[in-house]
Amino acid sequence: MNEWGNGLIRSWNDAGWYPAPQHTGAKIARYTGADSDEVIVCDTTSVNLFKVLVAASRLRPDRTVLLVERGNFPTDVYVTSETGNLLGLEVLAVEPDEIIPTITELGERLAIVQLTEVNYKSGRVCGFHKVRDKDFSKSRTPISESPGQRFH
Ligand SMILES: Cc1ncc(COP(=O)(O)O)c(C=O)c1O
Repeated sequence: MNEWGNGLIRSWNDAGWYPAPQHTGAKIARYTGADSDEVIVCDTTSVNLFKVLVAASRLRPDRTVLLVERGNFPTDVYVTSETGNLLGLEVLAVEPDEIIPTITELGERLAIVQLTEVNYKSGRVCGFHKVRDKDFSKSRTPISESPGQRFH
């Protein structure tokens, strides 16, 4: 209450509000296998998914395929599908077990891999770090959270 009532907008700096998304994310990161600077807590899942897809596509503007797992959360499927279309990417959905072989197969066509750490229906754990840490000589740029279905 003191931060709000007395600190007012000064609390963004004085009470550490600005870095709170990074600090909170770093605490969660240890439970996911991510590095402390790879998780951030802000906005809603759908808004964050949109932002991260756009940002990731700009890292690889020459690449054309957005790869996702089948069977993911419905709003994630919708956001991913429509954002992929907006970005002019081909959205390719494969079974979870086909993710790693498909990354290898796509090579330099691969722009983004979107994975969900825990499937909302089955509880299946993806093991994001296993994909992230694998050495794909021509690929790279996997991103986590949220997933997809439908597509092709
Ligand atoms: C895996 C997953 N993705 C997306 C959402 C949607 O989140 P939001 O409404 O915050 O965008 C949820 C909500 O429970 C979820 O569990």
